[in-house]
Amino acid sequence: MSSFRGRTIQVVNDFSIDEQLYLYEQTRRLKRAMRANSSEVQSFRVQDPELGVYLIFLEDSTRTRESFRNAAKFHRAKVNEFGLAGSSFAKSESITDTVKMLAGYSRDSVFVMRTPQEGTCRWLEDTVGGYCESHGMRRPAFINAGDGRHEHPTQEFLDEYSFLERLNWDRSHIHLALVGDLLHGRTVHSKVNGLRLFHEVEIDLVAPRDISMPAHYTRQMEYHGYKLRWFESIEEYLGQHHVAPLWYFTRLQLERMGEKLRDRAAALRAAVTFRREFLPRVSQQTRFFHPLPRHRETPVIPPFLDGLAVNAWDEQAVNGYYTRIIEIALLAGCLGDDFTGTVQTPPEFSDDFVEETGPGTRAKGEYKVGIKPVSNGIVIDHIATGQQPEAIWNQVNKIRKTLGLNCVSSHGVFASEQTGRYKGIISLPGITQFDERLIKMLGAIAPGCTLNLITEQQVRRKYRLRMPPRVYNLEEICCRNPDCISHPQHAEPVIAEFYRSSEEDFVCRYCETPHTFHEIWAQSG
Ligand code: CP
Repeated sequence: MSSFRGRTIQVVNDFSIDEQLYLYEQTRRLKRAMRANSSEVQSFRVQDPELGVYLIFLEDSTRTRESFRNAAKFHRAKVNEFGLAGSSFAKSESITDTVKMLAGYSRDSVFVMRTPQEGTCRWLEDTVGGYCESHGMRRPAFINAGDGRHEHPTQEFLDEYSFLERLNWDRSHIHLALVGDLLHGRTVHSKVNGLRLFHEVEIDLVAPRDISMPAHYTRQMEYHGYKLRWFESIEEYLGQHHVAPLWYFTRLQLERMGEKLRDRAAALRAAVTFRREFLPRVSQQTRFFHPLPRHRETPVIPPFLDGLAVNAWDEQAVNGYYTRIIEIALLAGCLGDDFTGTVQTPPEFSDDFVEETGPGTRAKGEYKVGIKPVSNGIVIDHIATGQQPEAIWNQVNKIRKTLGLNCVSSHGVFASEQTGRYKGIISLPGITQFDERLIKMLGAIAPGCTLNLITEQQVRRKYRLRMPPRVYNLEEICCRNPDCISHPQHAEPVIAEFYRSSEEDFVCRYCETPHTFHEIWAQSG
């Protein structure tokens, strides 16, 4: 069976580079066949009336929705569409309930979702996918057609396809200017990973500081080895000589801006609008791309450019039809049997954050200081070592509350015998073991602490808990991005979940917003 069947495309990285290249190669074949009116086109059709393609657009769209609708019709699939108006969303039904119900209406389903909530498809993949499996139904596939300011992976696939066409399929190097609203534009955020298929990447970021690319994206670009340069306007960019042959514009996303930024929109837009006087300063080979739409009164690529060779955005928009035919064919399992490259798989998490450090030989004096000495029981030691007493008390209280430690016990903040640094201790006489769930929770709340199992006043086993690779299933954690599908304000039944991205940093599983360890806990104070 094809490894693409039933997959979800929430972000660009849900397809490996090999899989993205396969998509582009199939698109190239299809486009050639369609333009030549060749019978080879038939081999791309799913031709399955039991395939349901659901277009659920909770934000407006022309190109994405219509190209997917036409792609679904190409496959002779059932096409179902609805948005906010005229559906039970108007009666405050959750996205989760809605999609779960729709998944039962077709043998195979592909959901194409555009939502202001970020990370929606990842959540639906987990919950509706699990529901279908447990009820003997096939897992639906989910396609993110743009989620808030997060990602727009299928736009990225058509953009990369368009760049490859322009570069004659040479992947050795790309030099691209990203121009416009780089703060809110999800299509430019998807470029962070979409451009990885090129061996050398030079990116010029052309945007006023107020709408510049967020630092966590530029850090990722640098991590991928991209060469970055920053400019505040097109004027400034054209004042130097190393100008990119490919430009990618994005409109100002007024609908995502706060009032303060919106008040400054005219000045921000002026900085990233291409003016007629700039034309002599770009080479004949330059091509402009734009995901569109452009504002009819204040476009950043004005209509005087439409008939010039620089216009690559019209062909780019058409490419959305071809790439999306292939995407549906792949997720429906009609294509991909001959794919032999690397399959992207979900991340796996090891539990090696619990390290057994060996038994002690005698009871530690400090377990007898100020709190009830422990003959038999558990002592949690080294809580928030080195922090100020107030922070340590907060940590101690958080452990007690989150782990539900309401038993006979004692706790305190002390200076370490060896180092003099402050640390927290909780002693739990009479408790003989912590189950795995409690250990994971403890590691997530108080990384660096130790768990000491004591019998007859001897530390028999001792574990040091490091920061775990994943923090989840805890009521007190919450994504700080109010647009995240897991944020309580959306009232979807999502359980917050974070992955560790570096020693101290985490990202939300759904919207990928970076968090420090402390920010994960921000809601619980
Ligand atoms: N590029 C793009 O997403 O356009 P629509 O908003 O019209 O779908």
